[in-house]
Amino acid sequence: MRLVMIGSGYVGLVSGACFADFGHEVICIDKIATKIESLERGEIPIFEPGLGPMVQSNLAAGRLRFTTDFTGPVAEADVVFIAVGTPSRRGDGHADLSYVHAAAREIARAMQGFTVVVTKSTVPVGTGDEVERIIREENPDADFAVVSNPEFLREGAAIADFKRPDRIVIGTEDPRAEKVMREVYRPLYLNQSPLFFCERRTSELIKYAGNAFLAMKITFINEIADLCEQVGADVQKVAKGIGLDRRIGDKFLHAGPGYGGSCFPKDTVALVKTAQDHDSPMRLVETTVAVNDTRKRAMARKVVAACGGDVRGKTLAILGLTFKPNTDDMREAPSLAIIQALQDKGATIRAYDPEGAEAAREMTSGVVFGKDPYEIADGADALVLVTEWDEFRALDFARLRGRMAQPLLVDLRNVYPAEEVERHGFRYVGVGRKPIDA
Ligand code: UDX
Repeated sequence: MRLVMIGSGYVGLVSGACFADFGHEVICIDKIATKIESLERGEIPIFEPGLGPMVQSNLAAGRLRFTTDFTGPVAEADVVFIAVGTPSRRGDGHADLSYVHAAAREIARAMQGFTVVVTKSTVPVGTGDEVERIIREENPDADFAVVSNPEFLREGAAIADFKRPDRIVIGTEDPRAEKVMREVYRPLYLNQSPLFFCERRTSELIKYAGNAFLAMKITFINEIADLCEQVGADVQKVAKGIGLDRRIGDKFLHAGPGYGGSCFPKDTVALVKTAQDHDSPMRLVETTVAVNDTRKRAMARKVVAACGGDVRGKTLAILGLTFKPNTDDMREAPSLAIIQALQDKGATIRAYDPEGAEAAREMTSGVVFGKDPYEIADGADALVLVTEWDEFRALDFARLRGRMAQPLLVDLRNVYPAEEVERHGFRYVGVGRKPIDA
């Protein structure tokens, strides 16, 4: 099959490379010429484990190509995926669909023969209808179907998620489009990944409902963690205990500093907006958004409390800045709000992140960046673990202790058992495990 990806950002690039790896002929298009030139050389603009080699091998095999040219590839394509960004619109929080609409117009002008146009970008309910209307307006004779096929890729695990998904959701009621989409996903279907067909609007809502549910689940366990600290319970065991009930499940129950990233914050807010617009408010999601926002600053207060109630003049060493490990993405990272709040309270911040420092430098001020955990620990009054990169899972506490002014670890991801850290003479403060002054 000949597939075209409009947009060679995170979703377009991962999906394009994986489809090519399954043997399809894929062309990824982007407007930014410099990006396309480096992709043609096999250079990947994002950090995603396994993506570089996959792009390079498929480029070499001739199954994957990159171009800024729209017309030729779209004219020859069986399927055109719209994988452009849908950022939060400044001012009102609605998803900004201008890139999606612009892509629809360009596709309409270039398409020839029956073409399936698939929205992969996360788009609010009804966007498929609008894309269809735009294409028809632009090219009344076009033979096409518009399908919704949301992506559920997690950054850092995107290739595994693409190749072995829990499900593939396809929103179309057009039998010709259904046949084409079955063919597109045949390699995954053979891997036993269920294809779930439904109406286009249902499919669009599945994406938002799924992300909002996961965001609620995280927020729920975070509030349970707070309660654990008050009543002397252990949130990790509560999570395990409830997770063993298969109706609940054990995933997405890690208490921490709140969710961040490019999806949950944006998608929860967009769902709230859509619900309000349709006079069908989603109060649980509204509350999730509000609770998650306040959580980040609450984590800063937790650090201050752990430091004895005052951080003025103290030096805090932050381990991990990205919104989660295995990505260089700093979007909506809890570390940003935590650092700001601690600086507001007079602390000096040092920080280390394996991949995110470059982006973090642009998004913070006054932070001193170091090259490893030990360097930033020099003279520090506390070590604050914000993002659970693997390289923080086996820290040399004896070495750290020798360097720090105060041996204190505030572990906002519950990476360590308290006893292990305390054995080395450290004070340990986790999330939802035991009261700070216990
Ligand atoms: C998410 C969805 O998982 C994916 O299906 C969707 O398509 C895009 O959004 P992603 O943003 O890459 O993926 O990250 P994810 O692993 O879901 O984590 C999101 C945030 O929640 C991170 O900040 C993470 O640290 C936090 N999180 C996750 C928790 O705090 N606790 C958990 O138990 C799980």
